[in-house]
Amino acid sequence: MILGIESSCDDSSVALFDIKNLKLIHHKKISQDEEHSKFGGVVPELAARLHTAALPKLLEEIKPNFKDIKAIAVTNEPGLTVSLVGGVSMAKALSISLNVPLIAVNHLIGHIYSLFLEEEARFPLGVMLVSGGHTMILDIDEKGGIKLLASTMDDSFGESFDKVAKMLDLGYPGGVEVQSAAQRCVQKDRFKFTVPLLFDPRTAYSFSGLKNQVRVEIEKLKEIGNLSKQDISDICYAFENVACEHILNKLEKVFNERKFRRFGVVGGASANLNLRSRIENLCSKFDCELLLAPLKFCSDNAAMIARAGREKYLKKEFVKFDELKINPRVKFDEA
Ligand code: KG4
Ligand code: ZN
Repeated sequence: MILGIESSCDDSSVALFDIKNLKLIHHKKISQDEEHSKFGGVVPELAARLHTAALPKLLEEIKPNFKDIKAIAVTNEPGLTVSLVGGVSMAKALSISLNVPLIAVNHLIGHIYSLFLEEEARFPLGVMLVSGGHTMILDIDEKGGIKLLASTMDDSFGESFDKVAKMLDLGYPGGVEVQSAAQRCVQKDRFKFTVPLLFDPRTAYSFSGLKNQVRVEIEKLKEIGNLSKQDISDICYAFENVACEHILNKLEKVFNERKFRRFGVVGGASANLNLRSRIENLCSKFDCELLLAPLKFCSDNAAMIARAGREKYLKKEFVKFDELKINPRVKFDEA
């Protein structure tokens, strides 16, 4: 089995993955959402402290399986430095005590493997990656080589939901909260935000202007009085719609330029139902097979890290103890 460890942001998670039979044997995560919620976003020092407490607990539970572990796959990039350190040091310590090799896994590649958790990966593939830290369109060739087709120039898709939620006091993480508030909208045409970069020829994303449009509306409403639940729902609806419109607008441009046979949507924010159904329509329009990760494995988890690690294990792509380094930021080559 491969032991997977994930601690790149605010989820501590471990998983055991059966290499031969492509089966997830064990997966558990301890989320820090509640603790960070009080601050309206992730506090790195707090995240680091919570990882230090959670990871040993999660590992203790699978101690009886230690004898079956053949390698340890750990997220080493990208993410919050202080969070990544927790998982990587735990992986290093265990690799010495169990005498097994280390595998470094890129968190974003982990998200891609959430599409193929218990099956062989099917490439080539186009991917929309939407998380709290990233918004990217990726082109993956038959051999798994990754090229970047588009990314965000400022905030990410998920981050913009978190920021809107913070402005509206909806708690952290904001994605689910904004989505459920939007579902209670009564007056769909009440707020009209403009779609970012609509007439801009660049294949790129930008969410900070949209966030500011939302801020201005909230301030206007606050000048008149308190924000009602209805105000919040109507704003969330308009925001979510325009954010998804923006994703789709640039994605359709890419679909027109490249004929994807297969397309996957991954990352924590791929749980957004509005976005999922829009991409579903786009794929059927372009006669392209759509792959979606199970909702449970959209957000950060160690199952996808162990699964991605399995590919490296088969190719014997191990990393030496001293050479396993942390990269908080990582970039893919542009197409
Ligand atoms: O992949 P992930 O778990 O962590 C990162 O690697 O960033 O993604 C978390 C992000 C958060 O920004 C969260 O608000 C967003 O995904 N998210 C959503 C939804 N569920 C989670 N955004 C929009 N709609 C959702 N339903
Ligand atoms: Zn993630």
